[in-house]
Amino acid sequence: MTPRVGVSLWAWAACVGWALLSVAAADLPPPERQYSILFLLPMSSTSHRNIFMSVAEALAERGHNVTMLVNHAVESRNENITVVFHGLDDFRPEKVSMFRIRGDVREVSRIYSEKLVAASKKLYKVPKVRKLYERRKDFDLIIVFHMMNEVVYPFVLVPSHHVTTLGVDFVQSATLGNVLNPAYASNFILHFPHPLSFMHRCLNLLMHIATACYWKRWSVTDIHREISAQFPGFPSMLEIERNQSLTLMNSHFSLDTPLPLLPGQVEIGGMHCRPGKPLPQELESWISGAGAAGVVYFSLGSTNQGTVLPRQYRDILLQAFRRISQRVLWKNVEEVDDVPENVLVMKWVPQQDVLAHPNVKVFVSHAGLLSTQEAAYHATPVLALPIAADQPRNADQIKKSGFGLALEWEEITVDLVLETLRELIDNPRYRRSAAEVSRAMRDQLTSPKDRAVFWTEYVIRHRGAPRLRSPAVELSWVEFLMLDVLAALLLVVCVAFVLLSCVARLVWRAVCARSKDKED
Ligand SMILES: *[C@@H]1O[C@H](CO)[C@@H](O)[C@H](O)[C@H]1NC(C)=O
Ligand SMILES: *[C@@H]1O[C@H](CO)[C@@H](O)[C@H](O)[C@H]1NC(C)=O
Ligand SMILES: *[C@@H]1O[C@H](CO)[C@@H](O)[C@H](O)[C@H]1NC(C)=O
Repeated sequence: MTPRVGVSLWAWAACVGWALLSVAAADLPPPERQYSILFLLPMSSTSHRNIFMSVAEALAERGHNVTMLVNHAVESRNENITVVFHGLDDFRPEKVSMFRIRGDVREVSRIYSEKLVAASKKLYKVPKVRKLYERRKDFDLIIVFHMMNEVVYPFVLVPSHHVTTLGVDFVQSATLGNVLNPAYASNFILHFPHPLSFMHRCLNLLMHIATACYWKRWSVTDIHREISAQFPGFPSMLEIERNQSLTLMNSHFSLDTPLPLLPGQVEIGGMHCRPGKPLPQELESWISGAGAAGVVYFSLGSTNQGTVLPRQYRDILLQAFRRISQRVLWKNVEEVDDVPENVLVMKWVPQQDVLAHPNVKVFVSHAGLLSTQEAAYHATPVLALPIAADQPRNADQIKKSGFGLALEWEEITVDLVLETLRELIDNPRYRRSAAEVSRAMRDQLTSPKDRAVFWTEYVIRHRGAPRLRSPAVELSWVEFLMLDVLAALLLVVCVAFVLLSCVARLVWRAVCARSKDKED
Protein backbone atom coordinates (compact mmCIF):
# COMPACT_ATOMS: atom_id res chain seq x y z
CA MET A 1 0.00 0.00 0.00
CA THR A 2 1.35 3.39 -0.88
CA PRO A 3 1.21 5.88 1.92
CA ARG A 4 -0.76 8.92 0.95
CA VAL A 5 1.17 12.02 0.62
CA GLY A 6 -0.36 15.44 0.77
CA VAL A 7 1.58 18.19 -0.79
CA SER A 8 0.67 21.76 -0.70
CA LEU A 9 1.86 24.06 -3.34
CA TRP A 10 2.12 27.44 -1.80
CA ALA A 11 2.39 30.37 -3.96
CA TRP A 12 3.51 33.87 -3.44
CA ALA A 13 2.12 36.85 -5.25
CA ALA A 14 3.65 36.20 -8.55
CA CYS A 15 3.50 33.74 -11.20
CA VAL A 16 5.13 30.77 -12.76
CA GLY A 17 6.51 30.53 -16.14
CA TRP A 18 8.29 28.77 -18.99
CA ALA A 19 6.81 26.33 -21.25
CA LEU A 20 9.65 24.93 -22.85
CA LEU A 21 11.20 23.39 -25.54
CA SER A 22 8.62 21.13 -26.98
CA VAL A 23 6.55 18.45 -25.44
CA ALA A 24 5.71 17.84 -21.82
CA ALA A 25 8.65 16.77 -19.74
CA ALA A 26 10.31 15.30 -22.78
CA ASP A 27 13.50 14.23 -21.06
CA LEU A 28 12.02 12.43 -18.07
CA PRO A 29 11.52 8.66 -17.99
CA PRO A 30 7.84 7.65 -17.94
CA PRO A 31 6.19 7.78 -14.49
CA GLU A 32 5.97 4.52 -12.53
CA ARG A 33 2.18 4.76 -12.52
CA GLN A 34 -0.67 7.24 -12.83
CA TYR A 35 -0.89 9.37 -9.69
CA SER A 36 -3.94 11.16 -8.30
CA ILE A 37 -3.01 14.71 -7.45
CA LEU A 38 -5.20 17.30 -5.77
CA PHE A 39 -4.53 21.00 -6.24
CA LEU A 40 -6.09 23.29 -3.63
CA LEU A 41 -6.35 26.94 -4.56
CA PRO A 42 -9.83 27.97 -3.45
CA MET A 43 -8.70 31.59 -2.94
CA SER A 44 -6.64 32.73 -5.87
CA SER A 45 -6.40 35.46 -8.43
CA THR A 46 -6.38 34.78 -12.15
CA SER A 47 -2.63 35.07 -12.45
CA HIS A 48 -2.03 32.71 -9.55
CA ARG A 49 -4.43 30.26 -11.08
CA ASN A 50 -2.55 30.51 -14.37
CA ILE A 51 0.64 29.41 -12.66
CA PHE A 52 -1.10 26.45 -11.15
CA MET A 53 -2.60 25.59 -14.51
CA SER A 54 0.89 25.31 -16.02
CA VAL A 55 1.95 22.89 -13.27
CA ALA A 56 -1.34 20.97 -13.46
CA GLU A 57 -1.15 20.70 -17.24
CA ALA A 58 2.43 19.47 -17.12
CA LEU A 59 1.39 16.72 -14.70
CA ALA A 60 -1.77 15.88 -16.66
CA GLU A 61 0.27 15.53 -19.84
CA ARG A 62 2.32 12.91 -18.00
CA GLY A 63 -0.93 11.00 -17.62
CA HIS A 64 -1.60 11.84 -13.96
CA ASN A 65 -5.16 12.41 -12.79
CA VAL A 66 -5.33 15.98 -11.55
CA THR A 67 -8.21 17.47 -9.56
CA MET A 68 -8.28 21.21 -8.81
CA LEU A 69 -10.38 23.05 -6.23
CA VAL A 70 -10.69 26.63 -7.48
CA ASN A 71 -12.71 29.84 -7.20
CA HIS A 72 -12.97 30.36 -10.95
CA ALA A 73 -15.62 28.82 -13.13
CA VAL A 74 -13.17 27.60 -15.73
CA GLU A 75 -12.83 24.37 -17.59
CA SER A 76 -9.55 22.78 -18.42
CA ARG A 77 -8.86 21.77 -21.98
CA ASN A 78 -7.02 18.74 -20.67
CA GLU A 79 -9.10 15.59 -20.26
CA ASN A 80 -6.96 14.52 -17.27
CA ILE A 81 -7.81 17.63 -15.22
CA THR A 82 -11.06 17.82 -13.26
CA VAL A 83 -11.90 21.33 -12.07
CA VAL A 84 -14.09 21.71 -8.97
CA PHE A 85 -15.49 25.25 -8.69
CA HIS A 86 -16.68 25.90 -5.13
CA GLY A 87 -18.89 28.85 -6.06
CA LEU A 88 -18.46 30.91 -2.87
CA ASP A 89 -18.25 34.56 -3.74
CA ASP A 90 -16.54 35.96 -0.65
CA PHE A 91 -13.25 36.24 -2.42
CA ARG A 92 -13.81 37.32 -5.99
CA PRO A 93 -10.52 38.17 -7.64
CA GLU A 94 -12.24 40.40 -10.18
CA LYS A 95 -13.46 42.55 -7.28
CA VAL A 96 -9.98 43.07 -5.84
CA SER A 97 -8.71 46.36 -7.17
CA MET A 98 -4.94 46.74 -7.27
CA PHE A 99 -5.38 50.51 -7.37
CA ARG A 100 -7.40 50.35 -4.15
CA ILE A 101 -4.60 48.33 -2.52
CA ARG A 102 -2.11 50.87 -3.82
CA GLY A 103 -4.14 53.63 -2.14
CA ASP A 104 -4.46 51.72 1.13
CA VAL A 105 -2.42 48.62 1.94
CA ARG A 106 -4.87 47.79 4.73
CA GLU A 107 -7.04 46.46 1.91
CA VAL A 108 -4.86 43.32 2.03
CA SER A 109 -5.41 42.81 5.74
CA ARG A 110 -9.15 43.29 5.14
CA ILE A 111 -9.01 40.36 2.73
CA TYR A 112 -7.53 38.31 5.57
CA SER A 113 -9.75 39.56 8.35
CA GLU A 114 -13.06 39.57 6.45
CA LYS A 115 -13.15 37.67 3.20
CA LEU A 116 -11.04 34.67 4.15
CA VAL A 117 -12.67 34.28 7.55
CA ALA A 118 -16.10 34.38 5.91
CA ALA A 119 -14.97 31.80 3.37
CA SER A 120 -13.56 29.49 6.04
CA LYS A 121 -16.99 29.45 7.72
CA LYS A 122 -18.63 28.24 4.52
CA LEU A 123 -16.13 26.26 2.50
CA TYR A 124 -16.65 22.85 4.14
CA LYS A 125 -20.42 23.25 3.95
CA VAL A 126 -20.28 23.23 0.15
CA PRO A 127 -21.24 19.62 -0.75
CA LYS A 128 -18.66 19.35 -3.55
CA VAL A 129 -15.91 20.48 -1.22
CA ARG A 130 -17.06 18.22 1.60
CA LYS A 131 -16.99 15.28 -0.79
CA LEU A 132 -13.50 16.15 -1.90
CA TYR A 133 -12.45 16.51 1.72
CA GLU A 134 -13.77 13.06 2.53
CA ARG A 135 -11.84 11.65 -0.42
CA ARG A 136 -8.59 13.38 0.53
CA LYS A 137 -6.86 10.14 1.48
CA ASP A 138 -7.36 8.81 -2.05
CA PHE A 139 -4.87 11.30 -3.40
CA ASP A 140 -1.16 10.58 -3.66
CA LEU A 141 -0.35 14.21 -3.26
CA ILE A 142 -2.02 17.46 -2.30
CA ILE A 143 -0.64 20.67 -3.72
CA VAL A 144 -1.62 23.89 -1.94
CA PHE A 145 -1.37 27.54 -2.98
CA HIS A 146 0.59 28.92 -0.04
CA MET A 147 -0.82 32.41 0.13
CA MET A 148 -4.28 33.14 1.56
CA ASN A 149 -5.28 29.47 1.47
CA GLU A 150 -4.84 28.43 5.11
CA VAL A 151 -8.48 27.40 4.95
CA VAL A 152 -7.49 24.17 3.19
CA TYR A 153 -5.16 22.97 5.94
CA PRO A 154 -7.65 20.36 7.22
CA PHE A 155 -7.06 18.54 3.91
CA VAL A 156 -3.35 18.18 4.54
CA LEU A 157 -3.74 16.65 7.98
CA VAL A 158 -3.30 13.20 6.49
CA PRO A 159 0.38 12.30 6.80
CA SER A 160 1.14 15.13 4.56
CA HIS A 161 3.86 16.80 2.66
CA HIS A 162 3.33 20.13 1.14
CA VAL A 163 4.68 21.80 -1.91
CA THR A 164 4.89 25.54 -2.27
CA THR A 165 5.01 27.59 -5.41
CA LEU A 166 5.70 31.08 -6.70
CA GLY A 167 8.52 33.53 -6.05
CA VAL A 168 10.58 33.21 -2.91
CA ASP A 169 8.49 34.00 0.16
CA PHE A 170 10.84 34.75 3.03
CA VAL A 171 8.41 33.84 5.75
CA GLN A 172 7.62 30.53 4.13
CA SER A 173 11.30 29.87 3.52
CA ALA A 174 12.00 30.48 7.21
CA THR A 175 9.22 28.03 8.09
CA LEU A 176 11.17 25.41 6.12
CA GLY A 177 14.31 26.24 8.11
CA ASN A 178 15.94 28.44 5.49
CA VAL A 179 16.07 31.88 7.06
CA LEU A 180 17.21 34.22 4.32
CA ASN A 181 19.66 36.86 5.39
CA PRO A 182 18.05 40.32 5.56
CA ALA A 183 21.49 41.84 4.95
CA TYR A 184 20.96 41.23 1.24
CA ALA A 185 17.67 39.38 0.67
CA SER A 186 15.01 42.06 0.29
CA ASN A 187 11.50 41.50 1.47
CA PHE A 188 9.04 41.00 -1.37
CA ILE A 189 7.23 44.24 -0.64
CA LEU A 190 10.12 46.64 -0.17
CA HIS A 191 12.93 46.11 -2.60
CA PHE A 192 16.21 47.82 -1.79
CA PRO A 193 19.05 48.50 -4.22
CA HIS A 194 22.18 46.37 -3.73
CA PRO A 195 24.31 46.63 -1.68
CA LEU A 196 21.83 47.53 1.09
CA SER A 197 22.77 50.61 3.11
CA PHE A 198 22.74 50.56 6.92
CA MET A 199 19.24 52.09 6.98
CA HIS A 200 17.97 49.63 4.38
CA ARG A 201 19.34 46.71 6.35
CA CYS A 202 17.62 47.99 9.49
CA LEU A 203 14.34 48.42 7.62
CA ASN A 204 14.68 45.08 5.92
CA LEU A 205 15.29 43.27 9.21
CA LEU A 206 12.22 44.94 10.73
CA MET A 207 10.18 44.05 7.64
CA HIS A 208 11.26 40.39 7.85
CA ILE A 209 10.23 40.23 11.50
CA ALA A 210 7.02 42.21 11.09
CA THR A 211 5.91 40.17 8.08
CA ALA A 212 6.57 36.92 9.92
CA CYS A 213 4.63 38.07 12.98
CA TYR A 214 1.78 39.85 11.28
CA TRP A 215 1.22 38.17 7.95
CA LYS A 216 1.64 34.55 8.86
CA ARG A 217 0.76 34.48 12.55
CA TRP A 218 -1.52 37.23 13.68
CA SER A 219 -3.59 37.57 10.50
CA VAL A 220 -4.48 33.88 10.41
CA THR A 221 -5.71 33.55 14.00
CA ASP A 222 -9.35 34.18 13.07
CA ILE A 223 -9.14 31.67 10.25
CA HIS A 224 -7.55 29.19 12.63
CA ARG A 225 -10.39 29.72 15.12
CA GLU A 226 -13.02 29.14 12.42
CA ILE A 227 -11.36 25.95 11.26
CA SER A 228 -10.76 24.64 14.79
CA ALA A 229 -14.47 25.05 15.50
CA GLN A 230 -15.22 22.70 12.59
CA PHE A 231 -12.27 20.34 13.09
CA PRO A 232 -11.66 19.85 16.82
CA GLY A 233 -8.05 19.18 17.74
CA PHE A 234 -6.79 21.04 14.69
CA PRO A 235 -3.05 21.69 15.21
CA SER A 236 -1.34 25.05 14.88
CA MET A 237 -0.81 26.53 11.43
CA LEU A 238 2.94 26.48 11.94
CA GLU A 239 2.96 22.75 12.69
CA ILE A 240 1.13 22.06 9.44
CA GLU A 241 3.28 24.42 7.41
CA ARG A 242 6.45 22.81 8.69
CA ASN A 243 5.29 19.46 7.35
CA GLN A 244 5.66 20.44 3.73
CA SER A 245 8.36 18.69 1.75
CA LEU A 246 8.72 20.71 -1.35
CA THR A 247 8.23 24.24 -2.57
CA LEU A 248 7.94 25.01 -6.23
CA MET A 249 8.83 28.67 -6.52
CA ASN A 250 7.96 30.94 -9.38
CA SER A 251 11.33 32.59 -9.50
CA HIS A 252 14.61 32.23 -11.30
CA PHE A 253 17.96 33.69 -10.35
CA SER A 254 18.43 35.17 -13.82
CA LEU A 255 15.56 37.54 -13.00
CA ASP A 256 16.01 37.93 -9.26
CA THR A 257 18.53 38.06 -6.42
CA PRO A 258 20.41 34.74 -6.30
CA LEU A 259 19.63 33.13 -2.93
CA PRO A 260 20.81 30.02 -1.07
CA LEU A 261 18.02 27.46 -1.34
CA LEU A 262 17.28 24.06 0.20
CA PRO A 263 17.09 21.04 -2.11
CA GLY A 264 13.33 21.11 -1.52
CA GLN A 265 12.99 24.70 -2.76
CA VAL A 266 12.86 24.35 -6.50
CA GLU A 267 12.80 27.31 -8.89
CA ILE A 268 10.35 26.89 -11.75
CA GLY A 269 10.12 30.57 -12.76
CA GLY A 270 9.22 31.09 -16.40
CA MET A 271 7.57 27.67 -16.62
CA HIS A 272 4.67 29.04 -18.65
CA CYS A 273 6.85 30.84 -21.19
CA ARG A 274 6.98 29.29 -24.63
CA PRO A 275 8.19 30.31 -28.06
CA GLY A 276 5.77 32.58 -29.94
CA LYS A 277 3.22 31.10 -32.30
CA PRO A 278 1.79 32.77 -35.42
CA LEU A 279 -0.84 35.41 -34.59
CA PRO A 280 -4.42 35.33 -35.86
CA GLN A 281 -4.44 36.74 -39.40
CA GLU A 282 -6.14 40.05 -38.57
CA LEU A 283 -3.87 40.87 -35.64
CA GLU A 284 -0.81 39.86 -37.62
CA SER A 285 -1.64 42.26 -40.44
CA TRP A 286 -2.44 45.05 -37.98
CA ILE A 287 0.92 44.63 -36.21
CA SER A 288 2.94 44.23 -39.41
CA GLY A 289 0.97 47.12 -40.91
CA ALA A 290 2.49 49.48 -38.34
CA GLY A 291 5.62 49.44 -40.51
CA ALA A 292 9.04 50.43 -39.22
CA ALA A 293 7.59 52.50 -36.34
CA GLY A 294 6.29 49.32 -34.76
CA VAL A 295 3.75 48.65 -32.04
CA VAL A 296 3.45 49.42 -28.33
CA TYR A 297 1.63 46.71 -26.40
CA PHE A 298 -0.26 47.86 -23.29
CA SER A 299 -1.76 45.52 -20.70
CA LEU A 300 -2.30 45.76 -16.99
CA GLY A 301 -2.62 42.00 -16.65
CA SER A 302 -5.52 39.84 -15.70
CA THR A 303 -6.11 41.19 -12.19
CA ASN A 304 -6.14 44.89 -13.06
CA GLN A 305 -8.94 45.22 -15.55
CA GLY A 306 -9.97 48.41 -17.27
CA THR A 307 -12.74 49.01 -14.76
CA VAL A 308 -10.20 49.83 -12.08
CA LEU A 309 -7.82 51.98 -14.14
CA PRO A 310 -8.62 55.42 -12.72
CA ARG A 311 -9.95 57.86 -15.28
CA GLN A 312 -7.17 60.44 -14.91
CA TYR A 313 -4.46 57.86 -15.68
CA ARG A 314 -6.45 56.47 -18.56
CA ASP A 315 -6.73 59.94 -20.11
CA ILE A 316 -3.01 60.64 -19.74
CA LEU A 317 -2.07 57.35 -21.38
CA LEU A 318 -4.57 57.80 -24.22
CA GLN A 319 -3.29 61.32 -24.92
CA ALA A 320 0.28 60.07 -24.97
CA PHE A 321 -0.69 57.22 -27.30
CA ARG A 322 -2.44 59.71 -29.59
CA ARG A 323 0.85 61.55 -30.04
CA ILE A 324 3.24 58.69 -30.78
CA SER A 325 3.98 57.39 -34.25
CA GLN A 326 3.58 53.75 -33.15
CA ARG A 327 0.38 51.78 -33.19
CA VAL A 328 -0.83 50.76 -29.72
CA LEU A 329 -2.45 47.44 -28.89
CA TRP A 330 -4.34 47.72 -25.59
CA LYS A 331 -5.60 44.62 -23.84
CA ASN A 332 -8.66 45.67 -21.87
CA VAL A 333 -11.89 43.85 -21.10
CA GLU A 334 -13.95 47.04 -21.01
CA GLU A 335 -15.10 49.07 -23.98
CA VAL A 336 -13.07 52.29 -24.19
CA ASP A 337 -14.56 55.42 -25.73
CA ASP A 338 -12.60 58.17 -27.49
CA VAL A 339 -9.91 55.83 -28.67
CA PRO A 340 -7.33 57.46 -30.95
CA GLU A 341 -7.02 56.09 -34.47
CA ASN A 342 -3.72 54.32 -33.82
CA VAL A 343 -5.03 52.42 -30.78
CA LEU A 344 -6.64 49.00 -31.00
CA VAL A 345 -8.46 47.75 -27.90
CA MET A 346 -8.91 44.00 -27.58
CA LYS A 347 -10.57 42.03 -24.80
CA TRP A 348 -8.19 39.15 -25.12
CA VAL A 349 -4.73 39.03 -26.62
CA PRO A 350 -2.39 36.05 -27.11
CA GLN A 351 0.18 37.93 -25.04
CA GLN A 352 3.22 35.71 -25.54
CA ASP A 353 2.71 35.60 -29.31
CA VAL A 354 2.40 39.39 -29.36
CA LEU A 355 5.55 39.85 -27.24
CA ALA A 356 7.42 37.45 -29.50
CA HIS A 357 6.48 39.50 -32.59
CA PRO A 358 9.54 41.39 -33.90
CA ASN A 359 7.45 44.49 -34.65
CA VAL A 360 6.38 44.92 -31.00
CA LYS A 361 8.81 47.50 -29.62
CA VAL A 362 7.71 48.09 -26.03
CA PHE A 363 5.47 46.42 -23.46
CA VAL A 364 3.68 48.91 -21.19
CA SER A 365 2.99 46.69 -18.20
CA HIS A 366 1.95 46.66 -14.55
CA ALA A 367 5.03 44.46 -13.99
CA GLY A 368 3.17 41.48 -12.61
CA LEU A 369 5.56 38.57 -12.24
CA LEU A 370 4.14 36.54 -15.13
CA SER A 371 4.22 39.51 -17.48
CA THR A 372 7.75 40.39 -16.38
CA GLN A 373 8.93 36.85 -17.05
CA GLU A 374 7.22 36.81 -20.44
CA ALA A 375 8.77 40.14 -21.44
CA ALA A 376 12.22 38.86 -20.40
CA TYR A 377 11.74 35.54 -22.16
CA HIS A 378 10.63 37.20 -25.40
CA ALA A 379 13.24 39.97 -25.09
CA THR A 380 10.77 42.87 -25.22
CA PRO A 381 11.72 46.14 -23.44
CA VAL A 382 9.24 47.20 -20.74
CA LEU A 383 7.76 50.45 -19.50
CA ALA A 384 6.72 49.37 -16.03
CA LEU A 385 3.80 51.07 -14.28
CA PRO A 386 3.69 48.99 -11.09
CA ILE A 387 0.53 49.26 -9.01
CA ALA A 388 0.86 47.20 -5.82
CA ALA A 389 1.95 43.90 -4.22
CA ASP A 390 5.17 42.55 -5.75
CA GLN A 391 4.90 44.76 -8.83
CA PRO A 392 7.21 47.58 -7.59
CA ARG A 393 9.80 44.93 -6.82
CA ASN A 394 9.52 43.46 -10.32
CA ALA A 395 9.75 46.95 -11.79
CA ASP A 396 13.02 47.48 -9.89
CA GLN A 397 14.31 44.21 -11.27
CA ILE A 398 13.38 45.30 -14.80
CA LYS A 399 15.36 48.53 -14.33
CA LYS A 400 18.28 46.72 -12.73
CA SER A 401 18.46 44.15 -15.52
CA GLY A 402 18.41 47.07 -17.97
CA PHE A 403 15.51 45.93 -20.14
CA GLY A 404 13.13 48.69 -19.18
CA LEU A 405 12.18 51.81 -17.25
CA ALA A 406 9.60 52.38 -14.54
CA LEU A 407 7.27 55.25 -13.69
CA GLU A 408 5.04 55.91 -10.69
CA TRP A 409 1.36 56.42 -11.47
CA GLU A 410 1.24 59.63 -9.43
CA GLU A 411 4.08 61.22 -11.41
CA ILE A 412 2.97 60.40 -14.94
CA THR A 413 2.16 63.20 -17.36
CA VAL A 414 1.59 63.01 -21.10
CA ASP A 415 5.09 64.39 -21.74
CA LEU A 416 6.78 62.02 -19.30
CA VAL A 417 5.09 58.97 -20.83
CA LEU A 418 6.03 60.14 -24.33
CA GLU A 419 9.62 60.83 -23.37
CA THR A 420 9.99 57.45 -21.64
CA LEU A 421 8.44 55.56 -24.55
CA ARG A 422 10.72 57.35 -27.03
CA GLU A 423 13.79 56.55 -24.95
CA LEU A 424 12.81 52.87 -24.81
CA ILE A 425 12.13 52.72 -28.54
CA ASP A 426 15.01 54.85 -29.85
CA ASN A 427 17.83 53.79 -27.53
CA PRO A 428 19.03 50.32 -28.60
CA ARG A 429 20.48 49.48 -25.21
CA TYR A 430 17.14 48.32 -23.77
CA ARG A 431 16.63 45.82 -26.55
CA ARG A 432 20.22 44.63 -26.14
CA SER A 433 19.75 44.07 -22.39
CA ALA A 434 16.42 42.36 -23.04
CA ALA A 435 18.14 39.94 -25.43
CA GLU A 436 20.82 39.26 -22.83
CA VAL A 437 18.32 38.54 -20.04
CA SER A 438 16.32 36.34 -22.41
CA ARG A 439 19.43 34.33 -23.28
CA ALA A 440 20.30 33.85 -19.60
CA MET A 441 16.75 32.83 -18.77
CA ARG A 442 16.62 30.21 -21.53
CA ASP A 443 20.11 28.85 -20.81
CA GLN A 444 19.29 26.05 -18.36
CA LEU A 445 20.29 22.43 -17.96
CA THR A 446 16.72 21.32 -17.31
CA SER A 447 13.52 23.14 -18.16
CA PRO A 448 11.41 24.59 -15.32
CA LYS A 449 8.60 22.33 -16.49
CA ASP A 450 10.73 19.19 -16.18
CA ARG A 451 11.82 20.32 -12.73
CA ALA A 452 8.24 20.89 -11.61
CA VAL A 453 7.22 17.44 -12.83
CA PHE A 454 10.31 15.62 -11.61
CA TRP A 455 10.20 16.99 -8.06
CA THR A 456 6.46 16.55 -7.71
CA GLU A 457 6.76 12.89 -8.72
CA TYR A 458 9.83 12.56 -6.52
CA VAL A 459 7.84 13.58 -3.44
CA ILE A 460 5.27 10.89 -4.24
CA ARG A 461 7.88 8.23 -5.08
CA HIS A 462 9.68 8.89 -1.81
CA ARG A 463 6.57 9.08 0.37
CA GLY A 464 6.79 12.73 1.16
CA ALA A 465 10.58 12.77 0.80
CA PRO A 466 11.37 13.67 4.41
CA ARG A 467 15.06 13.69 3.50
CA LEU A 468 14.48 16.96 1.68
CA ARG A 469 13.69 18.69 4.96
CA SER A 470 16.15 20.88 6.78
CA PRO A 471 16.98 19.83 10.36
CA ALA A 472 16.71 23.53 11.18
CA VAL A 473 12.91 23.21 11.56
CA GLU A 474 13.42 21.25 14.75
CA LEU A 475 15.39 24.03 16.39
CA SER A 476 13.93 26.79 18.53
CA TRP A 477 14.97 30.28 17.50
CA VAL A 478 17.36 30.44 20.45
CA GLU A 479 19.10 27.30 19.20
CA PHE A 480 18.91 28.42 15.58
CA LEU A 481 20.63 31.74 16.30
CA MET A 482 23.06 29.89 18.62
CA LEU A 483 22.15 32.35 21.36
CA ASP A 484 22.62 29.66 24.03
CA VAL A 485 26.07 28.74 22.69
CA LEU A 486 27.08 32.39 22.35
CA ALA A 487 25.86 33.03 25.89
CA ALA A 488 27.88 30.05 27.17
CA LEU A 489 30.98 31.24 25.32
CA LEU A 490 30.50 34.73 26.69
CA LEU A 491 30.16 33.27 30.17
CA VAL A 492 33.41 31.31 29.76
CA VAL A 493 35.19 34.44 28.57
CA CYS A 494 33.79 36.46 31.50
CA VAL A 495 34.72 33.79 34.07
CA ALA A 496 38.21 33.48 32.58
CA PHE A 497 38.56 37.25 32.67
CA VAL A 498 37.44 37.46 36.30
CA LEU A 499 39.74 34.60 37.30
CA LEU A 500 42.69 36.07 35.44
CA SER A 501 42.15 39.52 36.91
CA CYS A 502 41.93 37.99 40.44
CA VAL A 503 45.18 36.14 39.86
CA ALA A 504 46.79 39.26 38.40
CA ARG A 505 45.65 41.31 41.39
CA LEU A 506 47.05 38.71 43.84
CA VAL A 507 50.38 38.59 41.99
CA TRP A 508 50.50 42.39 41.86
CA ARG A 509 49.81 42.64 45.57
CA ALA A 510 52.47 40.05 46.35
CA VAL A 511 55.00 41.92 44.19
CA CYS A 512 54.12 45.24 45.84
CA ALA A 513 54.32 43.71 49.33
CA ARG A 514 57.72 42.25 48.52
CA SER A 515 59.18 45.53 47.27
CA LYS A 516 57.73 47.32 50.33
CA ASP A 517 59.42 44.72 52.60
CA LYS A 518 62.68 45.40 50.78
CA GLU A 519 62.34 49.19 51.21
CA ASP A 520 61.62 48.73 54.91
C1 LIG B 1 -4.18 11.83 -20.17
O1 LIG B 1 -3.60 10.70 -19.58
C2 LIG B 1 -3.36 9.60 -20.45
C3 LIG B 1 -2.81 8.46 -19.63
O2 LIG B 1 -3.51 8.29 -18.45
C4 LIG B 1 -2.39 10.02 -21.52
O3 LIG B 1 -2.17 8.95 -22.42
C5 LIG B 1 -2.95 11.21 -22.27
O4 LIG B 1 -2.00 11.69 -23.20
C6 LIG B 1 -3.28 12.33 -21.29
N1 LIG B 1 -3.98 13.39 -22.01
C7 LIG B 1 -3.48 14.63 -22.19
C8 LIG B 1 -4.35 15.56 -22.95
O5 LIG B 1 -2.41 15.00 -21.75
C1 LIG C 1 -9.76 11.22 -11.74
O1 LIG C 1 -10.19 12.17 -10.79
C2 LIG C 1 -11.58 12.43 -10.83
C3 LIG C 1 -11.88 13.55 -9.88
O2 LIG C 1 -11.21 13.44 -8.65
C4 LIG C 1 -12.35 11.15 -10.51
O3 LIG C 1 -13.72 11.39 -10.57
C5 LIG C 1 -11.94 10.07 -11.50
O4 LIG C 1 -12.56 8.85 -11.16
C6 LIG C 1 -10.45 9.88 -11.55
N1 LIG C 1 -10.10 8.98 -12.63
C7 LIG C 1 -9.27 7.96 -12.46
C8 LIG C 1 -8.99 7.16 -13.68
O5 LIG C 1 -8.76 7.68 -11.39
C1 LIG D 1 3.30 15.76 9.72
O1 LIG D 1 3.71 14.62 8.97
C2 LIG D 1 3.83 13.44 9.73
C3 LIG D 1 4.36 12.33 8.87
O2 LIG D 1 4.65 12.68 7.59
C4 LIG D 1 2.48 13.08 10.34
O3 LIG D 1 2.59 11.93 11.12
C5 LIG D 1 1.97 14.23 11.16
O4 LIG D 1 0.67 13.98 11.62
C6 LIG D 1 1.95 15.51 10.35
N1 LIG D 1 1.60 16.62 11.22
C7 LIG D 1 0.76 17.58 10.87
C8 LIG D 1 0.49 18.61 11.87
O5 LIG D 1 0.26 17.63 9.76
